[in-house]
Amino acid sequence: MLTAGAMVAVVEQLFADAKLHYGHGTSNARDEAAALVFHVLGLDHGAAPANYVEPVSDQQRIEVLELSERRMQERIPLPYLLGQAWFAGMTFVVDGRVLIPRSPIAELIEARFEPWLKADRVRSIVEIGTGSACIAISCARAFPEARVVATDISAAALTVARINVAKHGAEGQVQLLETDHLDGIQGTYDLIIANPPYVPREEMAALAAEYRHEPELGLVSGADGLDSARRILQDASGLLDADGLLVLEVGAQWHALEEAFPELAFTWPEFEHGGIGVALVHAADLHGLAGCD
Ligand SMILES: C[S@@+](CC[C@H](N)C(=O)[O-])C[C@H]1O[C@@H](n2cnc3c(N)ncnc32)[C@H](O)[C@@H]1O
Repeated sequence: MLTAGAMVAVVEQLFADAKLHYGHGTSNARDEAAALVFHVLGLDHGAAPANYVEPVSDQQRIEVLELSERRMQERIPLPYLLGQAWFAGMTFVVDGRVLIPRSPIAELIEARFEPWLKADRVRSIVEIGTGSACIAISCARAFPEARVVATDISAAALTVARINVAKHGAEGQVQLLETDHLDGIQGTYDLIIANPPYVPREEMAALAAEYRHEPELGLVSGADGLDSARRILQDASGLLDADGLLVLEVGAQWHALEEAFPELAFTWPEFEHGGIGVALVHAADLHGLAGCD
């Protein structure tokens, strides 16, 4: 009898031989193989050791091998093949219209941005560039008293975002808005969050094939990768509450951001589960930014 554990071992070897690129939810062949097999078998990751002895039917084996083949031949990231990604302990529907959720901001959301924010006082949140709405919806879950406005310039992405808002029953809390960054947003907010595009244009061609399945609008942002980040730093100032916090992911561009804004006091939190380059800026510091109100 073929077990889940044996099936994972077979797929792990296939993936290792194919020299795939990871980074869309897993970081190695073993975890990627387990994610695929467990999904097809409908098994719970939390109970992983016990589930390794579960039997695999012929039909399940064929499905696993077909998906593995597409993963290897077409270099499609696994979450697109499965139509689902995990973020902050929740699942989100994903397809090629949205970036695959993987931001380390998930860890900050689960900690309710403490100790950088007085979490109990958070009533209003804006997310810029929501994609699948994974950040907006997990913020709504972490801050049940807050209303969340989530923008994206991509109508296609917002179609997927709407599916996820409905899936998580967050319609009463999360408002989706098609706009450029913060254009048209009014009022003041306790928390502004953005995981905007931040890949420098010329670096796009050098990215692994897996990334070319994702929308370029979700990845590239000008020559140095910081076009979006600059807009956000300028525009967020007028919308943040006096005690508010801006959370801005720029990944590997964190050093370039520090150089571009030497007058800003960025805090760079460390992450237990990996990831870099998420800047925290307090409203008081942002208000001092040259050129801001
Ligand atoms: C890196 S993805 C992040 C998606 C999602 N928030 C996440 O963390 O998985 C960036 C998102 O910003 C959106 N975007 C790009 N340019 C934008 C703009 N000018 N205004 C608003 N959103 C924009 C893209 O469509 C994409 O959905």
